[in-house]
Amino acid sequence: MKHFSGIITSWYSQNKRDLPWRNTNDAYLIWLSEIILQQTRVDQGMAYYLKFAGAFPTVKHLAKADNDKVMKLWQGLGYYSRARNLHATAKIVCTDFNGVFPSEYNDILSLKGIGEYTASAIASFAFNKPHAVVDGNVYRVLSRVFGVESAIDSTTGKKEFSKLANELLDKKNPAAHNQAIMEFGALQCKPVNPDCSVCPMNSHCYAFAKKRVNVLPVKEKKIKVRNRYFNYVVLKSEDSTVINKRIDKDIWTNLYDFPLIETNAEVNESDFLVSKEWKKLIGKNKHIVRSVSAPYKHILSHQKIYARFWEIDLSADLKKIAPDSSIIIKQKDIHKYAVPRLIENYLNSEKGKKVKG
Ligand code: ADE
Repeated sequence: MKHFSGIITSWYSQNKRDLPWRNTNDAYLIWLSEIILQQTRVDQGMAYYLKFAGAFPTVKHLAKADNDKVMKLWQGLGYYSRARNLHATAKIVCTDFNGVFPSEYNDILSLKGIGEYTASAIASFAFNKPHAVVDGNVYRVLSRVFGVESAIDSTTGKKEFSKLANELLDKKNPAAHNQAIMEFGALQCKPVNPDCSVCPMNSHCYAFAKKRVNVLPVKEKKIKVRNRYFNYVVLKSEDSTVINKRIDKDIWTNLYDFPLIETNAEVNESDFLVSKEWKKLIGKNKHIVRSVSAPYKHILSHQKIYARFWEIDLSADLKKIAPDSSIIIKQKDIHKYAVPRLIENYLNSEKGKKVKG
C-alpha cells in the first residue's frame, strides 16, 4: 500500500491529542515522558510528567536532585527501578555527554533503562531521525492492516514487525509518522471492538476484510504448567488389587487408576504414612509397605505430574478397605481396563522387573 503513511499522518493531524511532550523537541523532556508512559496511561502520566518537568526542567536539574525527591515524585507509579534508572541515566548524561542528551540512536540506546522502542521514540521525536517505533499500538495496527499473523511476542515476529515498520516509515517525516501510527493505534485501532466503520484505513485493511480484527495481533500464549504430585496406592492382597474409575472433571475422566492421594508437594515416607488421607484409606488394617517407586514424571500440555507408586501388601480382605467407588480385580486382569499412559508405564516397568527378577 503506497499511502499508508499519508493516511495515518493526515488522520493524526485531525485527531491528535494535545499532549505537552508533543510540543517540544527537547530530548530530555521526551525521554522523561516516555519513561513515565511505559509505566502508566496518558491521563495519569500527564500529572507525573508535569510534576517532573516542573521540578527538574533540564537533565542537569534531575542529575543533581536528591534521590529521595526523585523517588517521592515517582510514588504511586510503581516499578521503582524505572525511577532509579531515570536518575542514574540523568547523571550519566551529565558526566559522559556533557549534560547534553545524545542524539545518535546507538548512544541513546546505550543508556540505562532505554530499549529499542524508547531509543527510536527519542531519536525520531527529538531529532527527526528515521527510526521506526514499534510498541503495542504499532504491533496492533500493522498486524491488522497488513495481515501479519506472526506472534508479536516471538523473536521472529518481532523482527518481522520491526522490518515492516521501518519499510513503511516516512523517512522525510519520521517524527510525525511515528507519533501518528502510535496515536492511530491508541485512538482508532483500539485493542477491543474498534469502530472500523469510521476508519480511514478500512478499505486497505486485511483484518477488516477478513473479519480478523478481534483475532489480530496474535500472541504466542505461554501455557502455564501446573505441577501435581500423585501418590498411587497399589493395594495387594493375595492375587487381587483395587482400581478406581475416574469420574471427576479432571484429567483422564473415565479411565481407571489406583486409589490416589494427591499432595501439594512430594512427600517422604514418614510424613505420608501418618497423613490423614493415608489413615482414611488404610485404617487400622495390618499392612506392609513393600516398595515405594521413584517419581514417574508425566508431562501433559498444562500439567506436569510427579507420581509415586506405593505398593502395599495387606492381609485384610480388600472388600473391607476398598473405597466405595472402587472395584476389586485380579491383578492379572488390569490390562483389561483403560488406564492412563502413566499407569501403563508403571505396570510395564513392574512387568520388566518380574521378568528380570
Ligand atoms: N505512549 C508512549 N509514548 C507516547 C507518546 N509519545 N504519546 C502518547 N502516548 C504515548
